[in-house]
Amino acid sequence: MRAQHLVFLFVLSLVACSETAKEPQTPNPTPLATPAAPTDPAPVADASALYRQAVCVGCHGPKLEGGVLGPVLTGLSAHWNREDLARFFADPESFVASVPRIAEQKAKYSMPMPPAAGLSEAERLALADWLLQH
Ligand code: HEC
Repeated sequence: MRAQHLVFLFVLSLVACSETAKEPQTPNPTPLATPAAPTDPAPVADASALYRQAVCVGCHGPKLEGGVLGPVLTGLSAHWNREDLARFFADPESFVASVPRIAEQKAKYSMPMPPAAGLSEAERLALADWLLQH
């Protein structure tokens, strides 16, 4: 009786083992990639999301098409490089003073472009890169 039990358990364990062996290998859900080293630059948010979050969209439109409060934002690469554009976001007024084209634009709208307070330099550069592609 005892021996029969043991045989039964042995067979059971064999079956159990072969079952687990047949299970498909599930990929490890946690990637093994090491986290970014602390010296890496902070990741910059998606520039189109920044454009919406920084309320640019309210004056320049969801498709950069412009509107009653701000000019069209396509074709900017004809007038801007990324560094100047990033600086412009931080301090539009200084460009109104030094760039006649911007002064003319300002005159067409009821409100001047506000500085993009709260955006880091990396975020302003990312926004500039993104806008210059349109
Ligand atoms: C209150 C409305 C308003 C908001 C908000 C606003 N702008 Fe403007 N923007 C303007 C106006 C008006 C001008 C015309 C120049 C001026 O007034 O400084 C302008 C000019 C510009 C220009 C120059 C266009 C050209 O032809 O060279 C760019 C680029 C620009 N804005 C991008 C942005 C971005 C990016 C944001 C968000 C960080 C933003 N604007 C937020 C109103 C706005």
